[in-house]
Amino acid sequence: MSRILVTGGSGRLGRSVVAGLARSGHQVVSVDRDGVPAGLLPPGVVQETTDLLAPGEALRLIEATKPDAVIHLAAIAVPFSAPEDVIFTTNTRLAFAVISAATQVGVPKIVTASSPTVLGYGCPAGWLPPSFPLDERTPPKPWNAYALSKLIAEQTMQMFAAAQGEKIRYAAFRPCFVISPEEWEGAPTQQGHTLAERLADPALSAPALFNYVDARDVADFLDLLLQKMPDIPNGETFFVGAADALATAPLAELIPRFLPGCEALSAGLSGTSPAFSIAKAQELLGWQPKRSWRTELKSILNDDASTLVTAGNRGKEAS
Ligand SMILES: NC(=O)c1ccc[n+]([C@@H]2O[C@H](COP(=O)([O-])OP(=O)(O)OC[C@H]3O[C@@H](n4cnc5c(N)ncnc54)[C@H](O)[C@@H]3O)[C@@H](O)[C@H]2O)c1
Repeated sequence: MSRILVTGGSGRLGRSVVAGLARSGHQVVSVDRDGVPAGLLPPGVVQETTDLLAPGEALRLIEATKPDAVIHLAAIAVPFSAPEDVIFTTNTRLAFAVISAATQVGVPKIVTASSPTVLGYGCPAGWLPPSFPLDERTPPKPWNAYALSKLIAEQTMQMFAAAQGEKIRYAAFRPCFVISPEEWEGAPTQQGHTLAERLADPALSAPALFNYVDARDVADFLDLLLQKMPDIPNGETFFVGAADALATAPLAELIPRFLPGCEALSAGLSGTSPAFSIAKAQELLGWQPKRSWRTELKSILNDDASTLVTAGNRGKEAS
């Protein structure tokens, strides 16, 4: 068992990460500006409610907690949900404050959340990747303050890794569009639509290239990452996504509809293949996502398959 400090532990992803790590036997300290009602987290989780941007606060908390690992999730997590300069300064300052304080205290493992948006898809001026599937070698090309702030969070992590050598282990991860457990039950997703609506209307998931991941799979990924960090190269970044796409038709068919000019590039995305490769996490860590919309939405597919099918016009693949 180790003591893990999770920032942003009250958030959409944070709640599942805190719960998952606590259930696998870790002592978890969740730090967030907002608290979660105590009954919603597993027993034993300690909550600290504070603003991590207050001067000296990240250092004070990390010194007081003396964790074996810090997982930094706190951020403004939705592009354009605040003025661009606010997103940029909030996210970059949070990443620097937390990673730098954890480094100063000598926390042995430090992980920061990035985002697939660093790649630059959805850019109004146009975007085409060199190839599909997208992976950690795909060149980042952020086009908004959120994506840029996440690239800087990765680079902040790498800067500290470079300065510390092998003394401290660092990593970053890019979770795909996070689905929390209640969203499988019908709660609105981060963009306001239900999962059934997203599946029925491909235009809703097209901007993120149909990527997604179950929040509990991210928790499992982080648990495994913390175990393996001493044995893998330092300062690595990982995509963390589902093994399939959030779509009822093959992406070879869907992507060119929404990203003209991609026909040849996306031709290999047949069957249920996602646009984002998780091969690096599979190969370096042995991680494998356990959930997909096909397993988690069984009840919707059974009860209301006709709605999904009619709206999505994709009958056979939805079953
Ligand atoms: N949700 C996704 O689909 C997704 C995808 C890719 C990356 N991410 C990244 O994962 C992380 C978590 O995302 P999420 O969806 O859970 O976001 P969220 O908005 O639900 O949670 C973020 C949490 O950070 C906290 N926070 C923000 N500023 C803070 C501060 N100054 N001090 C203390 N706490 C503060 C908020 O109170 C919130 O609870 C973020 O870094 C986000 O950029 C999320």
